[in-house]
Amino acid sequence: MRPNDRALSRSLNIADLRSRARRRLPTPVSDFLEGGAEDEATLIRNREAFSEWGLVPRAFRDVSQVSGAVKILGQNLEWPLIVSPTGGAGLFHPDGEIGLAMAAAATGTLYCLSAMASRSIEEVAQSTTAPKAFQLYIFRDRGLTRELVLRAKAAGYAALILAIDVPVPANRERDKRTGMTIPPRFDLASLLAFARHPAWCWNTLVRQPVKLANFSDMRAEPGTTLLNFINSQFEPQLSWADLEWVAGLWGGPIAVKGLLHGDDVERAVAAGASTIFLSNHGGRQLDAAVSGLDMLEQTAERMAGRAELIVDGGIRRGTDILKAVALGASACSTGRVGLYGLTVGGRAGATRALQLLRTEYERDMALLGARRQDEIERSCVRRLR
Ligand SMILES: Cc1cc2nc3c(=O)[nH]c(=O)nc-3n(C[C@H](O)[C@H](O)[C@H](O)COP(=O)(O)O)c2cc1C
Repeated sequence: MRPNDRALSRSLNIADLRSRARRRLPTPVSDFLEGGAEDEATLIRNREAFSEWGLVPRAFRDVSQVSGAVKILGQNLEWPLIVSPTGGAGLFHPDGEIGLAMAAAATGTLYCLSAMASRSIEEVAQSTTAPKAFQLYIFRDRGLTRELVLRAKAAGYAALILAIDVPVPANRERDKRTGMTIPPRFDLASLLAFARHPAWCWNTLVRQPVKLANFSDMRAEPGTTLLNFINSQFEPQLSWADLEWVAGLWGGPIAVKGLLHGDDVERAVAAGASTIFLSNHGGRQLDAAVSGLDMLEQTAERMAGRAELIVDGGIRRGTDILKAVALGASACSTGRVGLYGLTVGGRAGATRALQLLRTEYERDMALLGARRQDEIERSCVRRLR
């Protein structure tokens, strides 16, 4: 057995993959993956919120056949966990976004490609025939925004995910300390951290250098790098008219990612969104923001089936998905889970990560006494504190 295969087979859960991933990355990169904004209160909250709920199993049910199948954004998924968009996945393994897309396809779910990916819209579209979604930011340059929407449409993406929670870059102090900023500002300690990981340096800087693949044909303003240019493109003046504009351009299933307030969910659905990611961007944007799970029950009651609600942030176990579904989620979504697996073993590692969670989820459904998603009822979950 190759060392990587052994590392994967010995990883019994997401926490095991996470600790192996941390060891494989230079500290600045692993802090970039793990970190959140400011005090990281929201990052911590994303996990804590799940521990506040307990499951109440049902008895005397034939659970010899269970299925977590759901339809989200018009796509039939074999289980309710979507792979969230994460920019620059090539930082973690040369397989990057292609590895993640293939892992999602292999485990029966939907992959969302980030606009900030290290592989292009077209390359990822060709990597698998399974349906994929494209995550867009509205950039200051609306021509550039429009071009991305049209490229995703031409490449056959099944759904568009509009992320709205980066009106300005966040304050991630871990990254400032390690120099993972735009432009990078590494000190001696960071450079030594890279030097301790020659394999990572070879793969990421030489073999398959990480880039912002969707913008590689673009020329930045004179005197700026492409990274600086894209960073200056975040749009602080978003309006609901922008969502209507994008929905009209796209003309297919569209989700808004990064909402937490019920009024905004209502408004986004009125503007054409079928699906809402209740998300705080994995604790990486506004610190002290509530978690998606915190807002789920009341949003589900208010929307009463008028929108697909996806909880994103802190999912690490099959039981987390069960809790979210019982509280009204149509599905969940995760960023770091796929990235931990990708770091440890590329495409095979990302597949292992997703398969571990899928197996947990289906086993947990049986243990809860639920054969289908609609049997995971509100009464199956109880607040503990
Ligand atoms: C390294 C990293 C990069 C990310 N890049 C993006 C991105 O480009 N677009 C986006 O909408 N969200 C991005 N996110 C947020 C994820 O889509 C998702 O909301 C978050 O990871 C969910 O939390 P979890 O990692 O605890 O599952 C990123 C998250 C991480 C960890």
